Amino acid sequence: MTIPLEGRRVEVEKVTLARRSLVTIDDLSTGEMEAVFSLADGMSAELARQIPIESGRGKIMASLFFEPSTRTRLSFEAAMHRLGGGVISAVDVGATSLAKGESLADMARIVGSYADIAVIRHPWEGAAKVIADYAGIPVINAGDGGHQHPTQTLLDLYTIRKERGTIKGLKIALWGDLKYGRTIHSLIFALAKFGADILFCPSPGLELPEHIIQKLITEYGGEVVKPGASNGKSKERLFPLDAVYTTPTSPHQLAMMPDVSLEVELKTGVDALYVTRTQKERFATDEGDELKQKYPVVDKKLLKGKEFRRTLVMHPLPRVDELAYDLDTDPRSQYFKQAAYGVPVRMALLALLLGARESPVSGEEQIVPAVDFPIYHGKPGLRCPNSKCVSVQKTEIKYIEPEFKIVNRQPLTLRCIYCEHGFEPEYIASSEWHEGRSASKKYHSARSHWAQKIKTENLLVFTSAREAESHGFKPSHYTGGAAEK
Ligand code: NCD
Repeated sequence: MTIPLEGRRVEVEKVTLARRSLVTIDDLSTGEMEAVFSLADGMSAELARQIPIESGRGKIMASLFFEPSTRTRLSFEAAMHRLGGGVISAVDVGATSLAKGESLADMARIVGSYADIAVIRHPWEGAAKVIADYAGIPVINAGDGGHQHPTQTLLDLYTIRKERGTIKGLKIALWGDLKYGRTIHSLIFALAKFGADILFCPSPGLELPEHIIQKLITEYGGEVVKPGASNGKSKERLFPLDAVYTTPTSPHQLAMMPDVSLEVELKTGVDALYVTRTQKERFATDEGDELKQKYPVVDKKLLKGKEFRRTLVMHPLPRVDELAYDLDTDPRSQYFKQAAYGVPVRMALLALLLGARESPVSGEEQIVPAVDFPIYHGKPGLRCPNSKCVSVQKTEIKYIEPEFKIVNRQPLTLRCIYCEHGFEPEYIASSEWHEGRSASKKYHSARSHWAQKIKTENLLVFTSAREAESHGFKPSHYTGGAAEK
């Protein structure tokens, strides 16, 4: 096998994923995803010919589902059975020692001593990373809160590739809850990696979080542009286009057409419309009925336009009201097929991570240059501000050492390594204050020039003036006023 080199395209002959975990979609290169797809094709063929498959023989998969699931859990378990392996499962926190206050790390160590591979779904964002850090066996993220759902992405891409033969250069519209939908948060990065253009069509109030847009631009290249006003107002309402992402390889660069309108974007047709339901279980307490009422519905009427003539209608399911039943018999609809692909795709992934199979890949590897951000270790007491992050939960805070990538210096922006939530902290200081005199032990606004001046190894970050002051720092002239009082 040729080792992929940063920024170069190389031929990859055989891919092995033995002993690896899949926590976010970033864990797989395009070549590795292609390896999963070609093995999934092989698995489908073997299943169809009723050839006994032995890749999981003697192996046990732990199936840990602490949030509702039908497709993901059953397809993972069916996949392991079809590979000839065994399954042990826990499907309710209340029936495990987590309910007694056990930490995820301790549970992971135990599961790692009983099983050969583990699949976890959990409401806390970053939970799968903690399990992967402690289990000592390959771990697959089957959905961690609103963060990511990488195996759904694999079968989404597999579906598109089967229907269109490629992903590169396609135009994919993402519809509905782009704020909380974890399937969306994984799919976006994979589409960017494969070189697809993306149309963001959120339900009002459920737009893609800014930190995800930032990651898309800084790590995957390309650009995100908000379309200008268009004359086709009624169509605009029917098709709520909020922003467009084009990859660096896209032939039409949006920077050259700043007033890109809906008409321009739709002219070449939409290759896939990926619909999602409102993730109401993740709404904040002050969000709610209003967001649900505005939710746009995809039905036969919407798909009458010529831009949708060949559109694949996709949905990770379950659907609620956002996808009309009148589309079920429409040849453009893919969602039940998409769910059925869950078994061969997950069989392929399990076999590869268990080291039972290798997969040949043809074609070129598209490599997104890795961005090596400096790490901030969270001293003296910085915690992730995302209340759904695994690192701030009562049972986990005792042992998880917070870590943040410094993804930008102007404005200073940190990203939690667990939930990947990005945020701009309020105050900063240097641990090397001038000549060590306590009179010069000052803190500054994170938006002042100090954000670029302080060396990473000396950087101290605070979320409030009070916190900075509790560590003995006094406000400098650069605290933006409020803190000086
Ligand atoms: C999705 C999920 O759990 O995130 N379902 C799935 O795995 N197929 C989508 C959803 O629940 O809306």
